[in-house]
Amino acid sequence: MSPAPPVVRLVGAGRRFGGHRALADVDLTVRQGERVAVLGPSGAGKSTLLALLNGAWPATSGVVEVLGEDLGALSHGRRRLVQRRIGLVSQRLDLIDQVRVLHNVNAGRLGRWPTWRALMSLTLARPDAEVRDALERVGLGWAASERTERLSGGERQRVAIARLLVQQPELVLADEPVSSLDPGRAEEILGLLRVASAGSALVLSLHQPELAQEHCTRAIGLLGGEIVFDLPVDQLDPARLTALYALS
Ligand SMILES: Nc1ncnc2c1ncn2[C@@H]1O[C@H](COP(=O)(O)OP(=O)(O)OP(=O)(O)O)[C@@H](O)[C@H]1O
Ligand SMILES: [Mg+2]
Repeated sequence: MSPAPPVVRLVGAGRRFGGHRALADVDLTVRQGERVAVLGPSGAGKSTLLALLNGAWPATSGVVEVLGEDLGALSHGRRRLVQRRIGLVSQRLDLIDQVRVLHNVNAGRLGRWPTWRALMSLTLARPDAEVRDALERVGLGWAASERTERLSGGERQRVAIARLLVQQPELVLADEPVSSLDPGRAEEILGLLRVASAGSALVLSLHQPELAQEHCTRAIGLLGGEIVFDLPVDQLDPARLTALYALS
């Protein structure tokens, strides 16, 4: 069987900020179906790596290919088209507080709709089947018509994942999606991220190796902007993790 197509391909990718090297010469291929945890101490370059993958920052060296496109070679407009195919989960969630939950979920699919349809959908008074289904999958079937600001932190997180479900992304990127959550909620959100990335690929940064072992297929150790290991999660051993975090 031929391997699944690459969703991400970095070749010698690096990023400098002035004289500071945040990411050095990274080679990385992620294929459809993989769930990759990026581990490493503070300042290791995890957010920088994710920012290169979502096209937020250009690499200062090497090649960053995402969904078959060389991001560095694209016009701004073409890069935006690739970004629409990427599902992003940020710690800020980027929800609009003043609107109903269904409209925040609906926002996930505006990018794949023609303008007229996107504009029409902003006036939806009730969730259609797709939005309702996404909300039910995250346990928020009851909340479609609530104002988003009335929801708890955990519920808001699930709204962001429902938005991701209707976006149908071809790659999901999440920078520390569970760092501010209690253990139970972290488990729940990682489970939902797995659902939302089924059929595509997931790359996320984490500070908890045990969650990587449970929810991911592969773990990458970053230290000082370099990949120091890249392993299937069942080969992650305590010695390697201690070295990763102790050397920082
Ligand atoms: N916009 C920026 N300007 C200057 N330096 C930056 C910028 N962003 C990141 N850096 C530097 O690049 C390095 C890597 O930062 P990055 O944010 O990628 O680390 P991280 O692994 O995500 O850390 P954390 O676990 O604290 O989130 C750090 O030394 C950081 O100070
Ligand atoms: Mg970070």
